[in-house]
Amino acid sequence: MKKLIVFDTTLRDGEQSPGASMNMAEKLQIARQLEAMGVDVIEAGFPIASEGDFEAVSMIASEMKRASVCGLARAVEKDIARCWEAVKNAKKPRIHTFIATSPIHRKSKLKMSKEQILASIEKAVKYARSLCDDVEFSAEDATRTEIEFLKEAVSTAARAGASTINIPDTVGYAMPAEFGRIISEVKEALPDETVISVHCHNDLGMASANSLTAIQNGASQVECTVNGIGERAGNASMEEIVMSIYTRRDIFGLKLGIDTTKIYPVSSLVSRLCGISVQKNKAVVGENAFRHEAGIHQHGVLQDKLTYEIMTPESIGRKVESLVLGKHSGRHAIKERLTALGVDTEKIDMDDFFNRFKKVADKKKQVFDDELLALVEDQIGTVKKFFEIDYLNVVSGTKTLPTATVKLKITDEKGKDKVSQEAACGDGPVDACYKAINKITGMTPILVDYQIKAVTSGGDSMGEVTVSIKEKESRHEIHGRGASTDIIEASARAYVAAINRLKLLQERNR
Ligand code: KIV
Ligand code: ZN
Repeated sequence: MKKLIVFDTTLRDGEQSPGASMNMAEKLQIARQLEAMGVDVIEAGFPIASEGDFEAVSMIASEMKRASVCGLARAVEKDIARCWEAVKNAKKPRIHTFIATSPIHRKSKLKMSKEQILASIEKAVKYARSLCDDVEFSAEDATRTEIEFLKEAVSTAARAGASTINIPDTVGYAMPAEFGRIISEVKEALPDETVISVHCHNDLGMASANSLTAIQNGASQVECTVNGIGERAGNASMEEIVMSIYTRRDIFGLKLGIDTTKIYPVSSLVSRLCGISVQKNKAVVGENAFRHEAGIHQHGVLQDKLTYEIMTPESIGRKVESLVLGKHSGRHAIKERLTALGVDTEKIDMDDFFNRFKKVADKKKQVFDDELLALVEDQIGTVKKFFEIDYLNVVSGTKTLPTATVKLKITDEKGKDKVSQEAACGDGPVDACYKAINKITGMTPILVDYQIKAVTSGGDSMGEVTVSIKEKESRHEIHGRGASTDIIEASARAYVAAINRLKLLQERNR
């Protein structure tokens, strides 16, 4: 049985989702989970894009034991050299170089003729091959490229030494049957041993359908992201593709190296770390994906689950409404549960975590898996904590001007702590808190987005808040998350987490 190569680009294309930027510790945490679930290739970033990207790719490259680690590079020498620097310590390094081939990109973006594009491809791939044995070439905007020129471009790359040729539907323009034809034509033009890869965007909601049709037409590598995050409407979603191949093995007849029971934990992790919630009715990982509402469906499921379920929640590592821990639970049970949820407990301060858990467990009878994960992310969401909430008091009501008093612990560059307290009034209790925090930190970012949701169902659920902030002159959004049984506290935690990230970024850029 042929194996489908799963190439995950959550950390590169996924991170290009507006507001999804992650720090190094978060990227590493995701990479570890991707490797543990059996992803074949991890695209860890775009090393030339920033110092942070470079460091993250290098760190992931050094740590991965089994997966190939790939970095992206434009088809120019300086990008490729930087990319190689970042991936060279990987057990299996890969350079992924690309150039656009479509008429619109040639004319308006690159201002290059077809001949110049072909020359760049040859030069770039040959240079990449002089550094690395495993080179992938992508023809950006392939689906809007004249088919004859596309074939010429990818043949040039293969002759120059690229062993994987990627056909991206960069702008999500293709329809499944059309994309399938493109893949068969490209396959005809390439040597049998060349791996054909596909990389689909979801602008018209076709990313998974296009990827699967391409697989049926000869593609043996699929590029995707967890939860389908990515530029604009996102990329093909890993869980949709993997579960389609798995559920419909009668049609695809392909082997997969993926442990599907890791899908749900990875999906939750990515959603929390990126601050992008998964839509409730999202295929496979959405909250409602295994819920049956209509009486007729419930009746069917009670007789035999297969009447309305084509896959089980357990097959993606999800136990519906799995109740776990409470205030009598000990450290051992908590640690074990965290490990089962895919959390690397070595990386968290268990004493601090246990105290936070107890506070929550004292307020509610049961602490569910999602709440446990929210607490983990709340604790490790920031690598370096410049500011931490020490005390918070808010007065609010229909006839009172909302007022907040906030005390923050401030840690300076030398690791010395001091506490500072301020009070402020605001349009509402959250606004008052944020104003008091601004007074202490001396930072006045713009609040771009504020979202609040209950982590689980039930009136006593913990609240989870995600905020996005940005500096006045910047387009770069930074998110922060906070979770608590008290939504004002969750809001303040989320804001402080975002401020910590912003401060870290400012220090890096200084
Ligand atoms: O969408 C795209 O074309 C890409 C390439 C760089 C592979 O992300
Ligand atoms: Zn892309």
